[in-house]
Amino acid sequence: MWSADLPKLGVGIGYRDAYRYDVFRYIDDIDFMEITADHFFDPHPKSNQLLSLLSDQFKLIPHGLGLSLGSADGLDRDYLQKLKQVVDTIQPAWWSEHISFCRVRGIDIGHLTALPKTRAALRCLSENIRIATSEIEQPLILENVTQSIEYKNDTFDEASFLGEVLDENDCGLLLDVTNLYINSVNYRFDPLKALWRLPADRIVQLHFVGFYREGDILVDGHAHPTNREIWHLLDEVVRYAPICGAILERDEHLPPFSEILREIDTMREIIDQSSVES
Ligand SMILES: [Fe+2]
Repeated sequence: MWSADLPKLGVGIGYRDAYRYDVFRYIDDIDFMEITADHFFDPHPKSNQLLSLLSDQFKLIPHGLGLSLGSADGLDRDYLQKLKQVVDTIQPAWWSEHISFCRVRGIDIGHLTALPKTRAALRCLSENIRIATSEIEQPLILENVTQSIEYKNDTFDEASFLGEVLDENDCGLLLDVTNLYINSVNYRFDPLKALWRLPADRIVQLHFVGFYREGDILVDGHAHPTNREIWHLLDEVVRYAPICGAILERDEHLPPFSEILREIDTMREIIDQSSVES
C-alpha cells in the first residue's frame, strides 16, 4: 500500500522565485511545497541558502525535470548524483520524476516527451528506474505527461501502460490530473474510465493547473487558472484514491498570490468534502 504508508502533506504549490516573499508571508496557508530539484544543482551559496531556508520552514518535495528516465541510452550519472544530493539534503517523504524522456544520445531535446507505450520502452524505463532508486533511497513517484506525438506501434493504452510501469517498478504515481484530462481530449478516451483503471493505492500525489485550447487540441501551458473540467476531475480523483498531497503547478502568467491561495483553498475543500479514507 503506497499512499497508506506515506504522510498526508495537504495542498501546496510548486515553489517559484516570483513568489519568494509571498510564500513566507502566507506560510500558514501552504501545507507543503514542491521544488524543482534541477534549480538547486548549482552549489552557489545563494541557492544553498535558499534551499536551507525553504527546508527549515516548509515540508518540501523535490521534483526532477531532467533525469530522462525513459532514455534508451541510459541515465546521466552526473545528473543523478546532483539530484541525489538535493534529495539527501531535504530528506523528503518522497521525490518525483516523469514517465518520459528528454535526452537522446546526450542531447537535451528540451521537452518531456511521452514514451511509446511498448514492452521495449517499459524495459528501458525500468532499468533506469532500478539504477535511480538504487542511488536515491527515498520513495520515487512517477508522473504521467501529456503526449504530443502519436506512436503507431503502441501496445498499451494510457491507463494500462501507467499500471504496468507502477507495478513493474513498485512505484507510486504522481497523477497530473490536467495531463490526464488533456490526453483524454486529444486522444479521445474517457478520463474517468482511465482513472478507475489506475491502482488507487499507488496514487500518492496530484498536480493540477489550467489548460488552454489551440483549435481542437488542449495544451498544458501551466499558465491559466484551473478549469472547471479539471476541478470536476479532481473531485472524482479524491473520491477514488486516498491521496497524500496535491500541488498547484503554475509556471507562466503568474497571477497575484491571492489567486493562488484561492485555488489552494478550493482544492482543500474538495479533499475535505470528497476524499476516501486510506
Ligand atoms: Fe505536472
